[in-house]
Amino acid sequence: MSRIQATAPSNIALIKYMGKTSHTENRPSNPSLSWSLNHLTSVVELEATEEPSDRWEPLDQQGYFAPTLSEKGQTRFLDHFQFLKSQLGIEGHFIVRSGNNFPADCGVASSASSFAALTKAAWSWAKANGFEKDMTVEVLSGLSRQGSGSSCRSLFSGWARWEGEGAEECLFPLQNLEHTLVLLDEEKKEVSSSEAHKRVTSSPKFQGRVERATKRLKDLEEALKNSHWKQVYQISLEEFEDMHDLFETSDPPFSYRNQHSRDVTQWVTEFWNSEGDGPVITMDAGANIHLLWRPDQLKLARNFLSSLTDRLPTVRLLHSPGWEKDFRQ
Ligand code: PMV
Repeated sequence: MSRIQATAPSNIALIKYMGKTSHTENRPSNPSLSWSLNHLTSVVELEATEEPSDRWEPLDQQGYFAPTLSEKGQTRFLDHFQFLKSQLGIEGHFIVRSGNNFPADCGVASSASSFAALTKAAWSWAKANGFEKDMTVEVLSGLSRQGSGSSCRSLFSGWARWEGEGAEECLFPLQNLEHTLVLLDEEKKEVSSSEAHKRVTSSPKFQGRVERATKRLKDLEEALKNSHWKQVYQISLEEFEDMHDLFETSDPPFSYRNQHSRDVTQWVTEFWNSEGDGPVITMDAGANIHLLWRPDQLKLARNFLSSLTDRLPTVRLLHSPGWEKDFRQ
């Protein structure tokens, strides 16, 4: 066998990884918790080659968009592969191909899913070629972390909690959530997340951040255990606003939020106030809004999203497959 493929999902954190205690090994300042976005995946293919070194190229495969990776991005990806090869006893050289089932302009960072897929592909290659040591998915998650921090949570398909070396899966009664991505800005961000991790420590609000995130994680886990959806919403809202406040009070300050992100956040709050129910809202390091819904909220989601598109006619919405057909325009 000279070729192998693996896929991994993107993920969205409700408690954010923001700030590092080690930038070389991607060690987080605080624990985080995410939900995997199983409809937004990356695939990585490894093909053995006689060429003198590893190289990356975009994957040309139906159903996948070939990404464009800068020189720097390619080096980072191949450096992680080199690290995996040394950890997993992989010899020889490879053409490393990657692709995503979501377009580059859709506001979803592909680093978590692509580094996780690379880690899984390297592991499959090692196993198929006689690597004898057994490794749990948690250990593999720790390896993935060294390439891209948030990728360690993409080794799992539902809730993942990351505290130390790698992430682990968490089981809560709410396991079948639907996801809507509200696309408000599809431009490449000016401040990378690596830079954001460094810059937030200059904010006066970084003081107490680790304690705030740790306490919220504890409260969120309690709310998820008890299916207290409103609390999940309240904690997630506070948490992403905390992260964006850090960005906006850093030295020098930077911001990913725009007027539309602020408006949508406000409309979600008003919706909750009038209906007593609504989506969990969060934002990543970007202007786009992620909404999570319980499966029984289809009617509610329809109401909210139709008033959203009335108010922002140019907005693009991306739904998880469970609901995609229900919202097809
Ligand atoms: O893994 P990185 O370095 O791209 O960090 C991503 C951090 C956030 O996406 C902003 C939050 C998170 O926990 O995913």
